[in-house]
Amino acid sequence: MSILTGRKKILVTGGAGYIGSHVVKQLGREIGYEVVVYDNLSTGSQTAVLYGELVVGDLEDKQKLDQVFAEHQFDAVLHFAASISVPESTANPLAYYGNNTRNTLNLLQCCEKYGVKKLVFSSTAAVYGETVENPVRESTPTAPINPYGYSKLMSEQMIKDYSQASGLKYVILRYFNVAGADLNGRIGQSNKKASHLIKVAIDAALNRRQSVSIFGTDFPTPDGTGIRDYIHVEDLAAAHLDALRYLQEDHESQIFNCGYGQGYSVKEVLAKVKEFSGVNFPVIEIERRAGDPGCVIACSDKIRQILGWKPQYNNLDTIVSSALSWELKLISLKELEMNLQQTVPLGTILLQKQFISQNQLQVALQEQINTGKKLGEILLMKSLISDQVLQNCLQEQINLRQRSLLAS
Ligand SMILES: NC(=O)c1ccc[n+]([C@@H]2O[C@H](COP(=O)([O-])OP(=O)(O)OC[C@H]3O[C@@H](n4cnc5c(N)ncnc54)[C@H](O)[C@@H]3O)[C@@H](O)[C@H]2O)c1
Repeated sequence: MSILTGRKKILVTGGAGYIGSHVVKQLGREIGYEVVVYDNLSTGSQTAVLYGELVVGDLEDKQKLDQVFAEHQFDAVLHFAASISVPESTANPLAYYGNNTRNTLNLLQCCEKYGVKKLVFSSTAAVYGETVENPVRESTPTAPINPYGYSKLMSEQMIKDYSQASGLKYVILRYFNVAGADLNGRIGQSNKKASHLIKVAIDAALNRRQSVSIFGTDFPTPDGTGIRDYIHVEDLAAAHLDALRYLQEDHESQIFNCGYGQGYSVKEVLAKVKEFSGVNFPVIEIERRAGDPGCVIACSDKIRQILGWKPQYNNLDTIVSSALSWELKLISLKELEMNLQQTVPLGTILLQKQFISQNQLQVALQEQINTGKKLGEILLMKSLISDQVLQNCLQEQINLRQRSLLAS
């Protein structure tokens, strides 16, 4: 709890990453939370942290982690920081046990030392392995088939054991296939190692890869291709806020699946990406991969009943269109950055068009120097300008740049 504001202080490890940043954004909308993000920015980005304070640090750095706990009195920890690539975990298992398991231990040791009693942990459906039970329940036996899944299951076990001994209350969330992006296009998946189907298909639509392979067309599913449960990242983020509220009400520790309880086939996903992108990228049908189940769907009854979780974006159109918009934005941001060199500063345009005052600009510029955040982002966070005004002024910058190039 913050002595100054009376608000609850939440530590978010990995809050600059894909899922963590969406949760931080939602925490920012709630009254009553102060957020400290702890992230080494290995795959996350400073600009994705739309709320709270960012401390750039590694969970491996016990001294720095200790300092952060000593400085703040955290009410709860949301633990996202991890390495997430299954193939990479097979190639380099020790790195995964180090970053995912040992670093979770470092975090738990700080929780113990500083008396933090609430933890929400990002786990994964990978802990179930090649289960044939469908839908997958929280009681379905765990049997990971790769070091990534084991590194998460081992972390779960540590959390459970420590909870038994200490009274720490936890919510472990086992995510299924997370996809989509912020509906206002401010944040999304930026981790280059992400390799799920929607990302791969969008890469093909954007000509970053030549084709998409379908592994198996003879599964016992309506169109013969594998079915998976895709959850929109905003709904997943909302589950974390529900979990936090639940822990604050002092209930028992729980494990919940995070999925919708329904899925889409590979062919359905590919067709949707083609429809939204307008690109008919090549698709190659090949043999099933060993161990790939035909259908993996989460049973989400428990999280709906106990946390009262109410997903809002359970449709493939929203998932695919928001993911595609985000990828397009990443491309246009890169172009913008290249175009904006040596052009009229954004602040000058906003000032000339009287969207902000001289005083507001000065305060924002000072904050830019202090935090390293982008000016547009700071003004958005302060609600001094709208998304639309920012887009228009950035476009104006490009126009000015083009005119000056033509004139030169
Ligand atoms: N993306 C998915 O589909 C998915 C599915 C199941 C579970 N998960 C879990 O969700 C969590 C978040 O995943 P994501 O998709 O947002 O990944 P991400 O790579 O976008 O985010 C991870 C964040 O953690 C940070 N980080 C990594 N190691 C760190 C360390 N040692 N110290 C400090 N910061 C560190 C990274 O910089 C990044 O910002 C992970 O725990 C992952 O295992 C993700």
